[in-house]
Amino acid sequence: MKTEVLNPNKDRGAILLAARLLKNDEIVGIPTETVYGLAANAFSPRAVNKIFEAKGRPSDNPLIIHISNYDMWEELVTNIPDVAKKLAHEFWPGSLTIILPCKNIVPRETNGGLNTVGVRMPRNKITLDLIEKCGFPLAAPSANISGSPSPTSSDHVYKDMNGRIPLILDGGMCEFGLESTVITFSDDKIKILRPGAVTPKMLGRFGEVEIDKAVVSALSSDEKPISPGTKYMHYSPNAEVVMVKATSDENFNNFIEKIKLTDNKKKYALIFNDKIPPDLDYLTYGDTEEEQAKNLFAMLRELDSMGAEKIYVRAPSSEGVGLAVYNRLIRAAGFNIIET
Ligand code: TXA
Ligand code: MG
Repeated sequence: MKTEVLNPNKDRGAILLAARLLKNDEIVGIPTETVYGLAANAFSPRAVNKIFEAKGRPSDNPLIIHISNYDMWEELVTNIPDVAKKLAHEFWPGSLTIILPCKNIVPRETNGGLNTVGVRMPRNKITLDLIEKCGFPLAAPSANISGSPSPTSSDHVYKDMNGRIPLILDGGMCEFGLESTVITFSDDKIKILRPGAVTPKMLGRFGEVEIDKAVVSALSSDEKPISPGTKYMHYSPNAEVVMVKATSDENFNNFIEKIKLTDNKKKYALIFNDKIPPDLDYLTYGDTEEEQAKNLFAMLRELDSMGAEKIYVRAPSSEGVGLAVYNRLIRAAGFNIIET
């Protein structure tokens, strides 16, 4: 299959072409403000199965459904509690996925056979327009091969999906760069299953917030995750990732001095900035939590293309948006964390 990449801002027919493909049960790469998604008609088991096939994704891992208006939400879920309505009005369109009990209309292929469904209204204009033109909501996971870093540009999607899907809509680089915040409600609390651009503090204005244990730690093998996606090794480049918690640049650089001679793998550092560079080839991913969120996945992919075999990443702060960066990085590192 030939994979076309079209930019709807330059090619006016691109969104109509995408809608036509989706109506015919094909799957299409779409831009969102978080990461690129791989979209299918959420109501079509045949189309949704193509997503799992293209990604190599385990079929028990549920997909998020993307909507463009509130009527679509009501069509999908049995009841929308007040707090959920308030959260949607505050954060939609945007990077918040809300899990609620679902109606039978949601096929088991889409929600992994659970009795709930995660829904979000993305902020990207191209994708909102596309959903409107389709007239049905779009199930879409991140558009990467299962397990690898999520794509934040159409080039990343092309790299992973070339030959597997007919079309990618190019909407430029993703604004935020990490996947949406995923929440559920338990005992009247807002429970964060996956941190993202919508932070615990922002959610805290709407009720008591609890952060699921799996967000910052590994579950033991006998614990069952609420969000099936958290049990898989995730976001990993081909290179082995080690997360290094260092209190200062000097501290990090001393650590690099020591490990430099340990094995003869092709090693790189991924650090915040180049003010005090380590004695090792490196890339930077930014000083602020927002920059780090935007650049992390792109830099991990970049290091892969440079032939890295081992990457030592300076650990980010886990405050605010940093919690999302930290959460992705501990998974990319397979929980291999060194404190120095
Ligand atoms: O920003 C995003 O959320 C991106 C863009 C494309 O919208 N999508 C995305 O989808 O990250 P995906 O499939 O890569 O991640 C969805 C996560 C998985 O960890 C999955 O297990 C969880 O959300 N999830 C989805 N539906 C769920 C449900 N009903 N109950 C529990 N967890 C759910
Ligand atoms: Mg994903």
